[in-house]
Amino acid sequence: MDVLPLALDVRRHDDVAAAAVRVRAWKGHIDILINNAGGGIPGRPTDILQRAPEDIEALIGINLTGALFCCQEVGRIMVEQRRGKIINIASIAGLVGRDRGMYHRTGLAQQPVDYAAAKAGVIGLTLDMAAYLAPFGVYVNCISPGGFERGQPQAFVQAYSERTALGRMGRDGIDIKAAALFLASAASDYVTGHNLVLDGGFVLWH
Ligand SMILES: NC(=O)c1ccc[n+]([C@@H]2O[C@H](COP(=O)([O-])OP(=O)(O)OC[C@H]3O[C@@H](n4cnc5c(N)ncnc54)[C@H](O)[C@@H]3O)[C@@H](O)[C@H]2O)c1
Repeated sequence: MDVLPLALDVRRHDDVAAAAVRVRAWKGHIDILINNAGGGIPGRPTDILQRAPEDIEALIGINLTGALFCCQEVGRIMVEQRRGKIINIASIAGLVGRDRGMYHRTGLAQQPVDYAAAKAGVIGLTLDMAAYLAPFGVYVNCISPGGFERGQPQAFVQAYSERTALGRMGRDGIDIKAAALFLASAASDYVTGHNLVLDGGFVLWH
């Protein structure tokens, strides 16, 4: 498989625009965009009442503005091509409020409110971008994962699993792949503006 490695900061519009041009020049077209960059900023206070404004802006820049810039610049190319599939990675944080007790009790830093705001924004941008791009043959969908197991304290994994209908956290490197493949492929050619919630049924109980 050919790979074109490029370094960019998705918060910087110039970086994103330059990367989109380079990727298109590589093979002459762009078929799929997955906006996966995101997450929190480790080591910073996450309680909204103690949170630094610059941390809020940085997190929203990575998780929301970056996705919007990538949709804009790659979307422009896909419109010219009259085809393309965009997949945004949101989160169930954009759908439901958080039980912070589970984080406090198990010693894990809580997710900040700005993360929820950014991911709800990603879901919103998916809907409207899908509406905008549909006439051009360009699809926009998103995936909202629940918590994936990745070295969290065992007490947290257990508490989270007990609150999830399927009784476990997501498996890293396994549970998201088929959903991404579905939304990237012709199998989803009648699906746009969809938010595929991939959380083992976590939000069912909340
Ligand atoms: N892990 C989970 O449980 C979980 C749950 C729900 C949603 N998500 C979302 O899934 C996506 C992937 O999460 P992950 O847990 O694999 O995170 P991760 O931290 O392992 O990966 C995030 C990637 O984003 C990149 N990144 C960060 N800031 C960037 C910037 N400014 N410009 C370009 N790249 C940047 C990082 O280099 C990293 O490769 C994120 O959008 C996250 O919010 C994760």
